[in-house]
Amino acid sequence: MDFIDLAPLVSAQGTLRLPGSKSISNRVLLLAALAEGETEVRDLLASDDTQVMLEALQQLGVGIRHGGDGVVHVSGVGGAFPNKTGAVFLGNAGTAVRSLTAALALAGGHYKVSGVPRMHERPIGDLVDGLRQLGADVAYLGKDGFPPLEIRPASITPGGTVNVRGDVSSQFLTGLLMALPLTGVETTVKVVGELISKPYIEITLAIMARFDVQVARDGWQQFVIPANSRYRSPGIVYVEGDASSASYFLALGAIGGGPVRVEGVGRDSIQGDVRFAEALAQMGAVIEMGDNWIAASAPAGGLKGITLDCNHIPDAAMTLATAALFASGPTCLTNIASWRVKETDRIAAMAKELRKLGAVVEEGADYIRVTPVADLTSPPAGIDTYDDHRIAMCFSLAAFGTALRINDPRCVGKTFPDYFERLAEVTKAVPVIAIDGPSASGKGTVAARVAAALGWHYLDSGALYRLTALAARRAGIAWEDEPAVVAMAAKLDVVFSGDSIRLAGEEVSEAIRTEEMSSGASKVAALPAVRAALLFRQRLFRRTPGLVADGRDMASVVFPDAAAKVFLTASVEIRAERRYKQLIGKGIEATMRPILQDLRERDERDSTRSVAPLQQSAGARLLDTSDLTIEQAVAQVLGWGNEVLHKQ
Ligand code: DC
Repeated sequence: MDFIDLAPLVSAQGTLRLPGSKSISNRVLLLAALAEGETEVRDLLASDDTQVMLEALQQLGVGIRHGGDGVVHVSGVGGAFPNKTGAVFLGNAGTAVRSLTAALALAGGHYKVSGVPRMHERPIGDLVDGLRQLGADVAYLGKDGFPPLEIRPASITPGGTVNVRGDVSSQFLTGLLMALPLTGVETTVKVVGELISKPYIEITLAIMARFDVQVARDGWQQFVIPANSRYRSPGIVYVEGDASSASYFLALGAIGGGPVRVEGVGRDSIQGDVRFAEALAQMGAVIEMGDNWIAASAPAGGLKGITLDCNHIPDAAMTLATAALFASGPTCLTNIASWRVKETDRIAAMAKELRKLGAVVEEGADYIRVTPVADLTSPPAGIDTYDDHRIAMCFSLAAFGTALRINDPRCVGKTFPDYFERLAEVTKAVPVIAIDGPSASGKGTVAARVAAALGWHYLDSGALYRLTALAARRAGIAWEDEPAVVAMAAKLDVVFSGDSIRLAGEEVSEAIRTEEMSSGASKVAALPAVRAALLFRQRLFRRTPGLVADGRDMASVVFPDAAAKVFLTASVEIRAERRYKQLIGKGIEATMRPILQDLRERDERDSTRSVAPLQQSAGARLLDTSDLTIEQAVAQVLGWGNEVLHKQ
């Protein structure tokens, strides 16, 4: 399985230029395609959802040309699509499925509309009912009320009043409103039931107006498309930054100090999700806003829990559910029934994953209540993301409490393909000093002393391989039996505290240091799947205020973002002599030659294995301790550490 491990975060600060809004991008693309004239779309979001829309429009005969720098030229067809037949595949893009279905049904032609399996579980019946009132011939190819759909040529009879339900998704109303100008006849759309997600209808109306169609409205109940409406290109259209994407960064600022400033949305935005900033302010965050930017900082006393009706910010509200982990007191988000029919059942998914972190969660048909805990637990198997970009992005906030594994993180491609790179740019992680080197180089002693001097945590990664070797031996598993050793490594029951190491409750700090276990550790460490199984366990040692980690691949694999990297070594003869003295000191009988021979063999095995071989990694400083005392080596590492930490 694909995953990303997030380092635990200590602070957030910086400025981010937002990617374009998904909701605006897909509406603009459709109206530019239906309009008379060519439209130059600037700052268009480049993501999975806009990609499926662009491909579908091209397939329907719309001319699309990519300029540089996020500019797309759309040659409007001035009414119906040129290609009268086709099967369009729209992935899991709700905006694209709903709005294109309406446009295809009213424009006329023979089409099939489908998406990924989850899309076929997302309702569309209310829209189809509305279209059928206008004479459209739309049939369900699978389950009634859900895509895939077949649209056949039909005689459309616009005019009068069309009723559409608005309490499941506002996208049905958006689809109808955007398609009706294709008929040229005055038509009234009446919303049945309470309209949810109203701000998205504001976006729809604003973009229709940009393309020269003014919808007359009576509150949220009735909308009139005037006779002879035609979409005309305004020439150039700028897509605003995505206000929902902004929510993660504003929350980062509110939790991690800030200020974090997002550019591309602000006071002038047409997106309802900018009101997420108000919700954060209610939690105590310090918010500043300009026409085209918003900044968030943490309040002096920390965030506090709130109870909020989230009908107006259904997408950004998910970010409140994970920000709630860092508030004092519970947070209750209400009126969020629409979460259940999105990319996944978002209420169920959020509740399940928040519980994995230790939070106490109560869920109902249309609400979620999150009670935070003082210390988050990080699930070893990771946070699951349900092919839902927003689940992946909002759970990244939990990295303020712990190192965190997020499974299948590429789902962020739906709206924000480089989310995790941007996240790293505005956050600071718990610092690591990585010390790698060969056996008996003294790196363990040096690392432990550096950690003690700084008051940081210490990871002796070799001990994990030694523990795996010992646990395997005790279970009668051969060190070469990769699958069995991996299973062992994955469920090692170990507790480190000070100098004590307990395996399944038994003190083993001496038992793992024998020459036999040194040899066993070296053998199990050469098995790639064993290394993979121990990777996240090592990363969990990274906790505030910092970590000193020693091993063979600390700088190259486990903590490639370490603040300071040291390759600590000594000649093999000196190392053998140190080991000899150590054994004699413990009253263990020893002879030099076999120790020297054994060290040479282990060096060879550790540095020639196929995965994570022992090597001085790029950016690591070389420290040869052959002629240094322990104190001198410690002072040198501390000096390098301080140098980089002060620069950060
Ligand atoms: O550092 P040590 O002697 O306790 O390590 C025991 C074995 O584990 C050694 O043969 C190398 C291996 N090891 C590794 O492959 N990667 C690490 N990060 C640490 C140790």
